[in-house]
Amino acid sequence: MSVTSHAYTEQDVEDFFDQTAQTYLSFWDSEGVLHTGYFADEADSDYRAAAERTSEILAAEAGIDGSSYVLDVGCGCGNFLIYLAKRFRCHGEGLDLSNERIKFAQTKLAGDRDLATVEFRHGSATQMPYEPSRFSHVVSQDSLFLVPDKPRSHAEIQRVLRPGGVFAFSDFLQPTKDIGDRAYQVALEEAGFEILLARNLRSHIRQTYRVLGKTALERAETTPDAAARDWMLAFSASCKEIQIAIDHGEFGWGIFVTRKRRNATP
Ligand SMILES: C[S@@+](CC[C@H](N)C(=O)[O-])C[C@H]1O[C@@H](n2cnc3c(N)ncnc32)[C@H](O)[C@@H]1O
Repeated sequence: MSVTSHAYTEQDVEDFFDQTAQTYLSFWDSEGVLHTGYFADEADSDYRAAAERTSEILAAEAGIDGSSYVLDVGCGCGNFLIYLAKRFRCHGEGLDLSNERIKFAQTKLAGDRDLATVEFRHGSATQMPYEPSRFSHVVSQDSLFLVPDKPRSHAEIQRVLRPGGVFAFSDFLQPTKDIGDRAYQVALEEAGFEILLARNLRSHIRQTYRVLGKTALERAETTPDAAARDWMLAFSASCKEIQIAIDHGEFGWGIFVTRKRRNATP
């Protein structure tokens, strides 16, 4: 993922994730996981395990258990919610702008009785199809940086979360006025959230792009489709640029855990 400009609309984001769904499945992760991994150490190159570790950490920090009702905003192919439902038997809903990703998520539910408590829907973080105070937890992995109107998505998350409910997410960080480390915290506080945890974890995003850049290069060598091959080569080159940007403090990644203030209006 390397969308860093603000000159885009939600329609652009939807088109991008619809059009690239199959390509990402072919080299990033065949189950459709598309978020930053939390690696065991510098030698670790197991992306799938690292990605699941991120989910474990967020779930633990958010305090999710069997009584939770969780919304995953920007759920993509649904893997985080599926992990939560299987692990904790909690209830959950997933929302994403990409129809292709939502359809892929929905196919995973078919016939799996362990996932009867989970639903996926197409829709936007800025206009959610849920009534006020529906959820005990809102989670999100590497999605909110893509929302052009962040005050609006923060207000929507406030609206659908119960007073005292937890909003826990991972996201990219840039030294900009809306997703800088500190800027994010100020925006969250202004939106009525109390910050419980803010961890800048830039070494993990560096390792994610190092590992996936290498995978993309290897897959490009054996991919017969010329367009897909070019895309993977370009992605691999951009992974090197991203690592340089991270080394210069221009790009990063973090985990935030917040709580909706009890006196906040829904
Ligand atoms: C990097 S992917 C992460 C997907 C998923 N969270 C995961 O961990 O695999 C970002 C996702 O955010 C979704 N997204 C971006 N903007 C959104 C919005 N305004 N509302 C809902 N979903 C959005 C995209 O469609 C995409 O599936």
